[in-house]
Amino acid sequence: MTHSVLFVCLGNICRSPLAEGVFRALVEEKGVSDRFLIDSAGTGAWHEGDPPDPRSIEIAAKFGIDISGQRARQVRSEDFGNFDTILAMDNDNLTTLRRKGGQGSAEIRLFLNMPPMSVPDPYYGGPDGFENVYRLVRSGSETYLNSIL
Ligand code: 4NP
Repeated sequence: MTHSVLFVCLGNICRSPLAEGVFRALVEEKGVSDRFLIDSAGTGAWHEGDPPDPRSIEIAAKFGIDISGQRARQVRSEDFGNFDTILAMDNDNLTTLRRKGGQGSAEIRLFLNMPPMSVPDPYYGGPDGFENVYRLVRSGSETYLNSIL
């Protein structure tokens, strides 16, 4: 059975594209791609159609992952019925998702939940913020994948 997972942040240009790329790479490494449907989106619409932030593209490339082909989109109401799991990068986005989609069938939860913590928004910071996001997204993706395999 296919497991569908949607990674969500605010703009869908920094954190969730990295999470999508890292999770996809992990699933490919483990040879279980055919069991997953993976996507990302933002609660905001400002960057609809944009490629990921160059700093996210760069940090992904440093670890051998190409996310340059992704394009940002806003979360849609159908997502709450179409995805099995929707993973919020931080508590603000978790609150927005629960408000928008609480009636849908998707399980909506914080991406990092052991222990629960946010992936900090790196948009207005320096390159260190993107390194930190990569590290958190990598370990969170491993934990999440192990929890469902
Ligand atoms: P993201 O980062 O939510 O990780 O994609 C942001 C990108 C853009 C904005 C905020 C956060 N913005 O305000 O445009």
